Amino acid sequence: MKLKFGMIGGAGGGIGPVHMRGTLLDHKCELTAGCFSRHEEKNRAQAEEWGIRDLTRLYPDYRAMAAAEGARTGDDRLDFVVIVTPNDTHYEIAKAFMEQNIHIVCDKPLAFTVEEGEELARIAKERNLLFGVTYTYSGYAMIRQARELIEHGELGEITYINAEYPQEWLALALVQENSANAMWRLDPARAGESQATADIGTHIEYLVKAATGLSPERVLARFDHIPRDLKMESNTTILCQYPNNVTGLLWASQIAIGHECDIKLRVFGTKGAIEWQHQDAGRLKFTRLGGPVQYYSAASPYNYEESIRLSRTNPGHPEGLFEAFGNIYRSFCEVLLARKQGREPESFTFPTVEDGVRGLKFVHACVESDRRDSVWMPVE
Ligand SMILES: NC(=O)c1ccc[n+]([C@@H]2O[C@H](COP(=O)([O-])OP(=O)(O)OC[C@H]3O[C@@H](n4cnc5c(N)ncnc54)[C@H](O)[C@@H]3O)[C@@H](O)[C@H]2O)c1
Repeated sequence: MKLKFGMIGGAGGGIGPVHMRGTLLDHKCELTAGCFSRHEEKNRAQAEEWGIRDLTRLYPDYRAMAAAEGARTGDDRLDFVVIVTPNDTHYEIAKAFMEQNIHIVCDKPLAFTVEEGEELARIAKERNLLFGVTYTYSGYAMIRQARELIEHGELGEITYINAEYPQEWLALALVQENSANAMWRLDPARAGESQATADIGTHIEYLVKAATGLSPERVLARFDHIPRDLKMESNTTILCQYPNNVTGLLWASQIAIGHECDIKLRVFGTKGAIEWQHQDAGRLKFTRLGGPVQYYSAASPYNYEESIRLSRTNPGHPEGLFEAFGNIYRSFCEVLLARKQGREPESFTFPTVEDGVRGLKFVHACVESDRRDSVWMPVE
């Protein structure tokens, strides 16, 4: 049985096509309807490229789509909708489809404000709807391996966490001055109260949660606006206080010349440490105190079962971003299919609307901390 889904956004580039490929990896769902752009030509071109079979299910705007698709019944109904539009539209779009009892996958940041995010979480709970948020990097098999190592006590008690996400694309886009993708991100009316923290800081905040199970209780943030006339922060340094008084340091930057998507995660414990890098996503460095440096390799039989299940390649073959997306979709679809078929789902879980809300609260606490000249702020 294949699930049917629709997509809002995704025409002509951006992250939509990456989502699309992610959904294709496991053949669990099929693109059936969409509103890929508000521009008629781009909308139709995308539908043709992706092979929407019934073009009456291509819509000029998402409201018309929610109304028409919501009225369908039985096997013809959409199971879920994927939202890959700019940040200011997520809330309204998600709400419109949830009101038709259609499940949601939405890109991060979940919404514009904490209040909007909480409202989405409330509606999802009230209507018993699944709501996935695509914190992509949490989908890697080696992040799951890290989590299992930590849960099995291999690191002892966690003592310090360090995560970073440096990119250079914004520095480049500002010089080139021709990137629509950059421009909405720099407009507070479209991006929200934060730029780098919301755009990529949320990715590493959730990456830490996925690997360790920990979320910060307090943050102390300092935002840099570089170049100095930029309205929003392009570089963010965040000191985090995790449970048990564990310190974490997160750095996210979009003006880090020489870096593409150089995510790095390091977790130290009383007995050992792990290190993971996005550029070498299929390997996880592990060192036991006093022991030699070891590397776990994705898909190898010595990994934990939960990690092996997320690998589609043989050991030694590099994993990709599509797989990380695919794992979120695999899990989302598996839970949804299980629900439809009245059986227990696989145990791997996807980031949910509550994780999206926490991301918003995290960003908001960082914004407030920076606004008050960098003071400790609770994440609540
Ligand atoms: N998970 C990730 O790794 C990741 C990576 C990049 C972007 N994102 C997130 O994905 C979202 C989109 O980012 P992007 O880089 O793809 O942006 P983009 O500007 O490249 O693409 C946005 C798309 O949405 C369409 N669109 C805008 N408003 C619409 C509407 N009302 N109805 C239908 N279509 C509409 C545009 O035509 C375009 O195709 C953002 O929220 C961003 O934060 C997530």
